[in-house]
Amino acid sequence: MQSIGIDAMAIAVPEGYLELRDLAEARGVPPAKYVDGLGVVRMAVAAPHEDPVALAADAVRRVLDLGEIDPSTIGLCIVGTETAVDHSKPIAAYLHRLAGLPDRCRVYEAKHACFGGTAGLMTAVDWIASGSARGRKALVVCSDIARYGVKSAGEPTQGAGAVAMIISTNPRLVALEPGVTGSFARDVDDFWRPLYSKDAVVDGKHSVQCYLDALIGAYEAYVEAAREAGIDPDAVVRRCYHVPYGKMARKAHRALLAHRGHTEDEADARFADDVGSSLHFSAEIGNVYTGSLYLALASMLEAEARVLEGERIGLFSYGSGCCAEMFAGRVQQGAAAIVEKLALGAPLASRRALTIPEYEAIRAADAEIDRRPPSEPPVASVAARRVAFTGVEAER
Ligand code: HMG
Repeated sequence: MQSIGIDAMAIAVPEGYLELRDLAEARGVPPAKYVDGLGVVRMAVAAPHEDPVALAADAVRRVLDLGEIDPSTIGLCIVGTETAVDHSKPIAAYLHRLAGLPDRCRVYEAKHACFGGTAGLMTAVDWIASGSARGRKALVVCSDIARYGVKSAGEPTQGAGAVAMIISTNPRLVALEPGVTGSFARDVDDFWRPLYSKDAVVDGKHSVQCYLDALIGAYEAYVEAAREAGIDPDAVVRRCYHVPYGKMARKAHRALLAHRGHTEDEADARFADDVGSSLHFSAEIGNVYTGSLYLALASMLEAEARVLEGERIGLFSYGSGCCAEMFAGRVQQGAAAIVEKLALGAPLASRRALTIPEYEAIRAADAEIDRRPPSEPPVASVAARRVAFTGVEAER
């Protein structure tokens, strides 16, 4: 049987970011609380013209160009997002035109908090495995702007960005294991965003516990599925988690290893090797909601694809509300050369630090965004966004 999985991927980030040390100082909090307590260093801040359509289009342009993918080979495009630009028209419809996808293509949006991207990925894998794809590829995009109230406890755990992935047979990056996943769902009120609000509402401490409960629930389900398939569930050399902030990944690793009989000290001693390389991008960007797990995967591949070629890695996705899934994939021989071509971390090199007044002015302008049409970036959107960014500064 042909393998199915992630053939290429790319990320996109806004032009501006905030140093969390600066935010801590402005909020009268010791910087160590954010940097060490939460494990966050910088967070991406989307300016008004950098909506989830623009971020998604940028990531898609990169994955098609750098991955050398012909758009006419795409037969399914799913966008996972919880910060959509319309209650009816999906971001996938904008992408269909912007990316030049064929008319014979199924395009739609998937929502379940941060789980929406994984819902899209699982559907894409099953679409290919079922034979419905008839040789075509799927484009799965995760695009979000994570917003909490200014001066709220969630403020340092914001972020913004998009991850685009091509799912195909004989994938060049990571082969997944169709059907061998463990899911877990429960109706919980840990985090939600009412229709009238751009900011999420969150019961922070409760959300952490819900995440950890779902992790163990998904792990138990995964163990069963893996054993049925004759796979050792724990035979992974690395783990990528959903990363709302770096410390959460550490808490997750402790909880998972404790569940398997290890002490907290043992989990901490292994953390840098098992998980560390997956956190480089999120330390620069913050929470990107649906794309968070895939940003972690991109970070790990960028850091150590060569070492990981031929190895299995574990993946855990969590979406508040809640739904979670655990699964695994094998990094393909030759992946390091593809990772180099994809220049996964390059978008981080062309950003600039915002001042606190600039950040607060962007947040104050959030209320205006719904009264504007979604942005439609031209294909060379990175350069265009820089011009637009300057325009926003001039407006202020
Ligand atoms: P908080 O009020 O800052 O929490 O809220 P805290 O006071 O407990 O401090 C956090 C940590 O900093 C603690 O460490 C402190 O000890 C430490 P911990 O006990 O957790 O190991 N600390 C310090 N460390 C060093 N020096 C100091 C210092 N002071 C304190 N001076 C919270 C934190 C995460 C709750 C808040 O930021 C929040 O509500 N964030 C948003 C919710 C969130 O991210 N939840 C995560 C799980 S839910 C999820 O992942 C889904 C999500 O992505 C959404 C979706 O699915 O769509 C969010």
